[in-house]
Amino acid sequence: MANIPQDEGRGNFGSLIGFVMAGAGSAIGLGNIWRFPYVTGESGGAAFLVIYLAFVLLIGVPVIYAELAMGRASQRNPVGAFAALGPKEGGNPWVAVGGLGVITGFAILAFYSVVAGWTLGYVGMAFGGTFAGGVTAEQSGAIFGGFVANPVWAVALTASFLVLTALVVRGGVQKGIERATSILMPVFLILLVLLAGRALTLPGAMAGVEFLFLPDFSKITPTVVLNALGQALFSLSLGMGAMITYGSYLDRTQSMPFAGATVALFDTGIAILAGLIIFPALYAAGVKPEDGGAGLVFVVMPTIFEAMPLGNVFAIAFYVLLATAALTSTVSLLEVIVSYLVDEQGLGREAAVWGTTAACLALALPSALSVGAVDQLSSLPGLGMSFLDLQDLIWGNYSLSIGALLICIFAGWVWGVQPAVDEMTRSGHDLPASAVWGFLVRYVCPVAIAGLLVYITYNLVTGA
Ligand code: TRP
Repeated sequence: MANIPQDEGRGNFGSLIGFVMAGAGSAIGLGNIWRFPYVTGESGGAAFLVIYLAFVLLIGVPVIYAELAMGRASQRNPVGAFAALGPKEGGNPWVAVGGLGVITGFAILAFYSVVAGWTLGYVGMAFGGTFAGGVTAEQSGAIFGGFVANPVWAVALTASFLVLTALVVRGGVQKGIERATSILMPVFLILLVLLAGRALTLPGAMAGVEFLFLPDFSKITPTVVLNALGQALFSLSLGMGAMITYGSYLDRTQSMPFAGATVALFDTGIAILAGLIIFPALYAAGVKPEDGGAGLVFVVMPTIFEAMPLGNVFAIAFYVLLATAALTSTVSLLEVIVSYLVDEQGLGREAAVWGTTAACLALALPSALSVGAVDQLSSLPGLGMSFLDLQDLIWGNYSLSIGALLICIFAGWVWGVQPAVDEMTRSGHDLPASAVWGFLVRYVCPVAIAGLLVYITYNLVTGA
């Protein structure tokens, strides 16, 4: 067991529930409500869901434990964790994996803030009564299209969201993160259940349920499989060290097995719940899942509020809570970068927060302007996709997959299964089937992820 003393100066989560709420707060966000439905829609529905769930179980859960254990054992950010737990002599190339994580977090934060900014815009529209009286899918699509194509709004809202994130992170872990999430997450869950109840009873809703649960395996292609892996990692906040950083804040007396399992369960449950809202509502409104694209949730949701009593109240509540869920996720992304800059580069917390925020806004600009505001960015020459979609693909799929692969190899072969399991169980709580964890992290995860990446790259290169 690594004997790095728990660093009280970092600030710990006050309680296990506080940690679970913050971990779930990081995991639950736009990945569940915005990304999951549209990727599922594009990737064929139920067959994609099956693969996604398999990846959550066989790759996501092992990686979440690897990351949490690395964080708590080392008491460091991703870069520091690889430094502390890796080989001490002859240079330690693993530090670069931590570095890739910090860069990936930065890049994800940039495009994520753009979509998070849209949620702020929708809070405003809901308050202004834009959806009151009911909108058809067509009207809703036009509202979305006009809104995201407005460059001033797109940039202003992205910047606002980044500043909000900075203000929370500036306050430190416990005060900032724990307080916000332990109240708002449960409320969000209740609201989603109510919305699912409404969506499922709309006329034509069953077609949406079938789309989500009746698999058609002929729809599976290598791209669909990579999307499923990327979505599993993205949704659980894995592959770039966010959970390493959070693990370092988990008190040593608290049960890591419980914390990891609960976060995974909540996150996956909420994604499915979101699917149970979006797909029934989508079929009821006569839209095809594959036509939704990145705007899917924003276009579909307004069509169901008016079919509910107090419709506009639901609309307001939904967007406020979605923005909050997004905020607890952006906080975890920014926290990784800031803890790296503070721990490894010796920057002051304040300087690290604002410097990162400013730099991130610069990278966010092309994404913000790529959903209709600037034609060249909205359909990149030669690629046909928007700058935002490209960022999501590179960082949200490829980079997280590479990161998860290297984290598995590191935890399974370099740091080692035994020290990792010791860290996971040091509170005295058992990790059921810890031998299975070792096997998954050493063999199954690396082979599956590496195989998939090689296959996809081969197809890209040969143009197949
Ligand atoms: N998991 C979050 C979501 O689903 C997004 C997120 C936060 C994230 N931190 C991350 C994704 C780290 C990848 C890596 O909305």
